[in-house]
Amino acid sequence: MHAVSQIIEKNLHPGEIHRSCLWINPEKDDSWIKAATNCVSLKLFSQDYGCFSFLQRSGAEVEFSAFPQASVDKYSWIIVNLPRQKALLGMLLECAVGLLAEDGILWLAGENRAGIKSADKLLKLHFAQVRKLDNARHCTLYEASKRLNQQVFDPLSYRLEWTLNYKHKEIEVISYPGVFAHGRLDAGTALLLDALAKMEIEGDVLDFACGAGVIGACIASNRPQARVTLLDTSALALRASEETLEANQLNGSVLASDGLLELEDQFDLIVSNPPIHAGVKTDTRLSMRLLESVPENIKPGGSLIIVANVHLPYENWLTQRFRHYEQCGSNNDYKIIMATK
Ligand SMILES: C[S@@+](CC[C@H](N)C(=O)[O-])C[C@H]1O[C@@H](n2cnc3c(N)ncnc32)[C@H](O)[C@@H]1O
Repeated sequence: MHAVSQIIEKNLHPGEIHRSCLWINPEKDDSWIKAATNCVSLKLFSQDYGCFSFLQRSGAEVEFSAFPQASVDKYSWIIVNLPRQKALLGMLLECAVGLLAEDGILWLAGENRAGIKSADKLLKLHFAQVRKLDNARHCTLYEASKRLNQQVFDPLSYRLEWTLNYKHKEIEVISYPGVFAHGRLDAGTALLLDALAKMEIEGDVLDFACGAGVIGACIASNRPQARVTLLDTSALALRASEETLEANQLNGSVLASDGLLELEDQFDLIVSNPPIHAGVKTDTRLSMRLLESVPENIKPGGSLIIVANVHLPYENWLTQRFRHYEQCGSNNDYKIIMATK
C-alpha cells in the first residue's frame, strides 16, 4: 500500500461514521475498502484513467472525469490526495470546498517531498481551523474544518488559452492547471513540431500522451484528410484536448487510456512526447514501458516518431522492435527519432 494511503488508514477510527465521503484522487490500492467502513456512502473520484480502471475493477464506486460531479447533498467528509502537479492543488481544493457540507471536514494527505508541508497555507484560505493530524512515513495528513466560504466552483475560471504558430497557422491551445506544460509550448514538443512540419502526414494518426492536444491539433489543422486520435490517461488533459480541437474547429477523437491498453486500432503514424515522470521521480523506464506494445498498433510500413532527451537510450529498444530508425532532428537537449515498422 502507498505511504499516503497508509497515513490515511492509520487515522481512521472504528466507530467514527461519516454521512458521506468523497475521496479525490486516491492511490491505486485497496485503502478505500477500510475508509468505506467509516462512512454510510463512499465515492471515489480519479482524474487518472489507469487508477480509475484499477479502482473500478476492485469494486469501488468511482468516477473518472476532469472535475467531480456536483451532488445534491454535500459531502460531510472529503479526502484529497495531494496532486503531484503543484498548480493543480489550488483548483482541486476550491472544487472540493464547493462540494463540502458547511459542517464537513476535509483531509489533505501527501508526501513531504511532494510539498504537503506548505499546503496548509492553501487550506487556511478556505477553513478557519486547520490542524496537522499526523506525520509519518515521510507523509503528512492535515484536517481542515469550519469552512469559511463557498462559491460555486467554475472550471472556466481556471481555463487558459494560448496560441502557437504551426506552418503559418495560429493554433489556439486550451489548458487547465495540472495539464503538461500549462500555458506554454514545451521545448521538446517544439522541436518535434519543427520535424513534423517538414513531413507529409496522412492516414490514421495517434497523438499518444497528448496533454493539451498541441501535436494532434497541429497535424489536424494542416492535414484535414488525416484522421487524428488524441490519447492520454489524464482527464484534465483530455478535456483540454477536446476544447483545443473545438477552439480550432478541427476533427479528431479523444481517447482515455493508460498507455495503449484501450487501443484496438492500428495507425499509420504514432507521434509522442512520452511521459518520463512517475510520481515525483523522473523514471525513463516509464516511457519505454508505455511504448512497449506500440509496434502492435502501427500498420506495416507505418511509423513512430518521438522526441526524447538526448541522453535517453531509445535506439537499442527501437532496433529490436522496428525495421529501421533514423534521427530526424536534434538540438543540445532533445532528439527526434523516427522508427519504421
Ligand atoms: C510529456 S507530456 C506530453 C504532452 C503533449 N503531447 C505535449 O507535447 O505538450 C506526457 C503526457 O503523458 C501523459 N501520460 C502519463 N502517463 C500516461 C499513461 N500511463 N498513459 C497515457 N498517457 C500518460 C500525461 O498525462 C501527459 O499529458
